[in-house]
Amino acid sequence: MKILGLSFGTKNGNNDTMCRVALEATQKMGAEIEFIHVFDWDIKFCSGCVACSRGLVMGKGMICTQKDDYAALYEKMVEADGVLVVDPIYESGGSGLFHAACDRMGPGHDTGMLMMLDGKLKEQGKEGLNPRMFMQKAISFVGIGGSDWACRVQTDHAMLAMSPGWKVVDNDFFSWSKDVIMLDDKVARMQEIGKNLVEAAQYIIDNHVMIPGSENLDLWKGEKGGCPHCHGNNF
Ligand SMILES: Cc1cc2nc3c(=O)[nH]c(=O)nc-3n(C[C@H](O)[C@H](O)[C@H](O)COP(=O)(O)O)c2cc1C
Repeated sequence: MKILGLSFGTKNGNNDTMCRVALEATQKMGAEIEFIHVFDWDIKFCSGCVACSRGLVMGKGMICTQKDDYAALYEKMVEADGVLVVDPIYESGGSGLFHAACDRMGPGHDTGMLMMLDGKLKEQGKEGLNPRMFMQKAISFVGIGGSDWACRVQTDHAMLAMSPGWKVVDNDFFSWSKDVIMLDDKVARMQEIGKNLVEAAQYIIDNHVMIPGSENLDLWKGEKGGCPHCHGNNF
């Protein structure tokens, strides 16, 4: 089992460290781990050209006019069985870099659109998309904030999982956490989030859960909130 940790914080800061804490817990359970400090990768903003949705609908392929590391980052996510996103809370929500990554996931990686493309490619006698793209995935989010301004963070974070249709396992945030790596309860919670992610990823592997057909599968481990997707209470 591969677990990928993505941190959107400053280098070796709280987000990096807490991400590594959770990854270590997954490693102890037997997972192969990879950590990415997303700022080390070249992730450009979506330019709004809509080449991605046009390419998918017209059966031309997965096209993005931005030439950067996003496609490689998406590949890393696709190949992982579980993804943990740890992101600093900025202006009560996800960070700018996280939002950029989220927009780039957007229509170009929407599972319904990818299925349409897969069908069109096969109709044209071409090879379809990597079947791994249609395998279900466990994903968890943690926001880390220096104050208690956090009202949008769960909603923002869960959006990354919305268009691919991946299953959110935990979507938590820690407030007043400038010294989070010294807070034993928060460290223990990160370890639990890692453990929950491994268990959900194992369920997906054991049951060969594909994204299509798994709409009603609930792997959520946190408190039930108002929204059935992000479990936040904004709406
Ligand atoms: C531009 C900016 C906006 C911020 N806004 C918030 C906020 O709305 N709520 C909050 O709790 N913390 C906020 N913070 C504090 C960050 O969440 C905190 O610095 C970060 O989690 C530290 O993580 P790092 O050590 O991994 O960089 C903000 C920080 C910056 C730089």
